[in-house]
Amino acid sequence: MNAVYIEELARHVGREVLVQGWLYNKRSSGKVRFVIVRDGTGLVQGVVTPDADPDAFALAERLPQEASLRVWGTVRVDPRAPGGHELSVTRIEPVHIPKEPFPIGLKEHGVGFLMDHRHLWIRMRRQAPILRVRDAVLWAIRAFFHERGYVATEAPIVVGTAVEGTTTLFPLEYFGQPAYLSQSGQLYLEATCMALGKVYWIGPVFRAEKSKTRRHLTEFWMAEAEVAFLEHDGNLQLQEDLVRYIVESVVAERRRDLEELERDPEVLLAEVAAPFARVTYREAVDIVRARGVAMEPGEDFGAPGEDALSQHFGRPVFVERFPARIKPFYMKRDPENPDLALNADLIAPEGYGEIIGGSQRVDSEEELLRQLCEANLPEEAYRWYMDLRRWGSVPHSGFGLGVERVVAWVAGIPHIREAIPFPRTLDRLYP
Ligand code: 4AD
Ligand code: MG
Repeated sequence: MNAVYIEELARHVGREVLVQGWLYNKRSSGKVRFVIVRDGTGLVQGVVTPDADPDAFALAERLPQEASLRVWGTVRVDPRAPGGHELSVTRIEPVHIPKEPFPIGLKEHGVGFLMDHRHLWIRMRRQAPILRVRDAVLWAIRAFFHERGYVATEAPIVVGTAVEGTTTLFPLEYFGQPAYLSQSGQLYLEATCMALGKVYWIGPVFRAEKSKTRRHLTEFWMAEAEVAFLEHDGNLQLQEDLVRYIVESVVAERRRDLEELERDPEVLLAEVAAPFARVTYREAVDIVRARGVAMEPGEDFGAPGEDALSQHFGRPVFVERFPARIKPFYMKRDPENPDLALNADLIAPEGYGEIIGGSQRVDSEEELLRQLCEANLPEEAYRWYMDLRRWGSVPHSGFGLGVERVVAWVAGIPHIREAIPFPRTLDRLYP
């Protein structure tokens, strides 16, 4: 008999099937025993009665949590069961019976303990759906760009230059010369977009963030796009289209996982239904201050400021034209006010913070030189980047989307550390 996955059970109602997986939980009620089996695609409850195979009845009692097993049974519809189906078990075959109790019980554990057992924690009830939502987010990003004719071009991870400031670089020694882990693939995508027109990549990036917040990882995944001849307004439209596409695809493909996470898909759909809000940095500062968050014009928002904006709009909001002083060297200045950058941050609703940072890029050699100087960056290391402005420079724009922050928002989980299988933070390198 061919094995089926739990998520396919609806196609096998009334038939006997084989499910292969792990024992998630078990209980008894009178003469009946229940085994809850998981297989990575979902959970199903198996009902074992005394008239089933006597071995199966004994095993349903004896097998410990996370024993691996094969279960044969007939599929029945049961709207009250998780996943909507139940198995009337006919046979159970253990594959591996653990000798010690599984470290993670079904009771509450502290976060430190769970993080130390992350390699096992990912098997547990909320974690698997989050990782399936992550998969759906990543697929949606690829599908979006593929449908629009973008070419995926990868950026290197080991680099000789900073993109996003020098304070969060991870240094490393590269055969006797200094190198860093990449903070963003952007500079390289600017080069490949001049070769291919419109490009994107999804890759890991690194920031030596000394902050312990629920929004920061030291290693995270970024989806970045870069487009030749695209200007600021078109850049915002592209980001808006992408974010709406991600939400709609995840809701369409992973509704059951969202429901298991108690994330209401209708709330998400409503948040992205209307055009996203757009305000200037100056307007945003006033809104934040009017909501009682202390900040001075010229400063960055910080988490409390972003949360205030989130509450004010209740849908994604672009904050445009920041003071150029607090933004990286590569951003083009606003032609109407050279103190401002032609950039935007996209703030997610519900307090999930900044999910995208993007801008139009400097396209003149002289301006780029001046901005490199102002940022105290060594001209020599950026010579290749400067070359892009020497031969056929064109207006161009792009952005980077933080994958884990989007997963956290879509899945409705408060902390970004659960949005990636093995998070890296200031104090976490194990497992
Ligand atoms: O705003 P950031 O720093 O922008 C860049 O790196 C640009 N070079 C991207 C580009 O234009 N191609 O980072 C982009 C996004 C942020 O909006 C945020 O969502 C996420 O990456 N991000 C982080 N996510 C998790 N942990 C961190 N430490 C993050 N830092 C940024
Ligand atoms: Mg940013």
